[in-house]
Amino acid sequence: MRQPLIAGNWKMNGSKAATVELLNGIKAGIGDIGTSEVAVCPPFPYLYLAEEILSGTAIRYGSQDCSREEEGAFTGQVSATMLRDFGCTYAIIGHSERRLFNAETNAVIARKYQMVVAHGLTPILCVGETLEEREQGKTEEVVARHLDAVLDLPEGVAALAKGVVAYEPVWAIGTGVTATPEQAQEVHAFLRQRVAKKSAEIAAKLRILYGGSMKPGNALELMAQADIDGGLIGGAALKAADFLAICKAGDANV
Ligand code: 13P
Repeated sequence: MRQPLIAGNWKMNGSKAATVELLNGIKAGIGDIGTSEVAVCPPFPYLYLAEEILSGTAIRYGSQDCSREEEGAFTGQVSATMLRDFGCTYAIIGHSERRLFNAETNAVIARKYQMVVAHGLTPILCVGETLEEREQGKTEEVVARHLDAVLDLPEGVAALAKGVVAYEPVWAIGTGVTATPEQAQEVHAFLRQRVAKKSAEIAAKLRILYGGSMKPGNALELMAQADIDGGLIGGAALKAADFLAICKAGDANV
């Protein structure tokens, strides 16, 4: 059985005060969450607040990106070692907003994935097609390419045993348009089968999250799908009550 993971991607939102409030709000409600694993990914400058407020709780936290480099003259970047230093468990890698606004290629993303794993963090690898790609019938081709960036690494499928995958259709992110449970399940099953071709064991254990306008009102039916093992939540993760309600929905699907 795969333990559901509900991870909040806070993106570039909040302030010091709002972060403290949100972290405390989630902390106050975590006692009601049963089996779901809960994680939050605040902006880099606020990771120290996650460390301060969440230590000693079951809530894990991580970053929204990580440098592909170890250290050195890379202005503005944050290394995996630094993330470890602040107690991060997770690092989101290859989010579509980074592919789009920071021109991250599959090769760069694969390198970041390796770096994160090498430092004992768990990467959350994002994959997903644009609306145009879906309409052209290219969904499987696109998500396969995103997944293969890691599957084709020298360490092969073993690399995926160290991470989590998040299917995030770009057209569903921040739009209020969610993939139907059937649409999402279809892609999740495709991704799992692709991993299973290399290792049935790793595929069976791999957690594949859904992301894209997941809310308290649709989380339950999305996570009821056989291959949906949790959520990567944007907008709804910015309100403690909504985020906790999604975590509860994760509990219901074990
Ligand atoms: P929304 O939940 O705001 O659609 O964002 C999803 C997302 O991009 C999470 O990484």
